[in-house]
Amino acid sequence: MHSVPPVKPVILTGDRTTGPLHLGHYVGSLKNRVAMQDTHRQFLLLADMQALTDNAHDPDKVRRNVIEVALDYLAVGIDPGKTAICVQSGLPALAELTMLYLNFVSVARLERNPTIKDEIRARGFGRDIPAGFLCYPVAQAADITGFKASVVPVGEDQAPLIEQTNEIVRRVNNQIGRAVLTEAEAVIPEVGRLPGIDGRAKMSKSQGNAIALSASPDDIRRAVHLMYTDPKHLRAGDPGAVAGNVVFTYLDAFDADQIGVAELKAHYRRGGLGDSAVKQRLEAVLQGLLAPIRERRAECARYPDYVLDVLREGTMKARAVTQATLEEVREGLGIFKVGL
Ligand code: TRP
Repeated sequence: MHSVPPVKPVILTGDRTTGPLHLGHYVGSLKNRVAMQDTHRQFLLLADMQALTDNAHDPDKVRRNVIEVALDYLAVGIDPGKTAICVQSGLPALAELTMLYLNFVSVARLERNPTIKDEIRARGFGRDIPAGFLCYPVAQAADITGFKASVVPVGEDQAPLIEQTNEIVRRVNNQIGRAVLTEAEAVIPEVGRLPGIDGRAKMSKSQGNAIALSASPDDIRRAVHLMYTDPKHLRAGDPGAVAGNVVFTYLDAFDADQIGVAELKAHYRRGGLGDSAVKQRLEAVLQGLLAPIRERRAECARYPDYVLDVLREGTMKARAVTQATLEEVREGLGIFKVGL
C-alpha cells in the first residue's frame, strides 16, 4: 500500500540582486527560509528584474549580484535539493502575468502603497519615478502568484506588498469566476527589523551601516567597535540604557544564552558594566555565527560551475510551474489563442 504524500504548502520569496546580503536579511528572512525548506515546497527568486526597476543605470551590478546572492543562500544553508533557486529574468511567464495584472490595479493604489512611498522618499526620485519602479509591486504579485505560493517569509517592510498581491488575486479570480490564483500570507519573523550598527532603524548596505554575511573577522570586529550604544553612558560605573542600545538589540537577536543576556542587561542598567565588555560578548557571538557561513560561501565560490548548475536547475523547475499558472490565467481570462 502506498500512502499519498501530503501536499506541502508552497513558499515563494526572494531578494533583489543589488548587493550581498547582510545580518538584517539573516534575521529578517534567511533563517526562516532555511527552517522552512523541510516543511514546504520552497522557491527562492533572485529578483534581478525587480532590481533593475531602480538600477537601470547599472545593469552590470544587478547581473554580478545574481551570483553573490546565490552564494549567500548556499552559505546560510539553503539546500538546492530542497529549495529551487531561480533567476527572475529567466522566467518570462512572470513578465506576462505582470502585464495582465497591471490592468487590475490603479495608479492611485500603487502610489498609496506605504512601502513604495518610503522607498520613493529614500531614493529621492521626486517626480521622476521610473514607471517600472512604481509598478514593481504588481510584478511581485506575479512572482508570488505565478508559483501559487501561500506562504511568503519576508521582513515586515514587505507586508504591504503582500496585501496588494492579495487584492490583485481577488480581482483576477473575480474576473475569471473561480479561484485560479492563491492568496498568500506574509510570515514575518518575531525579531522584526534589525537596526543598522549606527542605530538607524534599518540595516542597509546603501547606508553603510550593515554587516555583510561575507564580512571578514576584521570587518566584524570593526563594526562591533563602531556600534551605537547609550550616548549618555560615559563611564563604566554609570547606569546605562538598554532600550535603543544596538549592542543589546543584537544580543537579543543572536545570543543563544538569553538568561546571560538578561543578567548582562540588569548589570548594565545598575552601572558598573562598560560598553567594551558588552561589545566583546557580542563580537564573540557574531564571529561564531558568521565563521561557518563565510567558509561555506568561499567553498561554493570555488566551484562557479556548480553554482550555475544550481541556478539552471532551479530556473527550469520554476519555468514549468510559472508557465502552467500563466496558461491557466490566460485561459481563465479568455485571452485570444493564436495557436502557434
Ligand atoms: N521585494 C523583495 C526585496 O526587495 C524581493 C522580491 C521580489 C520578493 N519578488 C519577491 C520577495 C516575491 C518576496 C516575494 O527584497
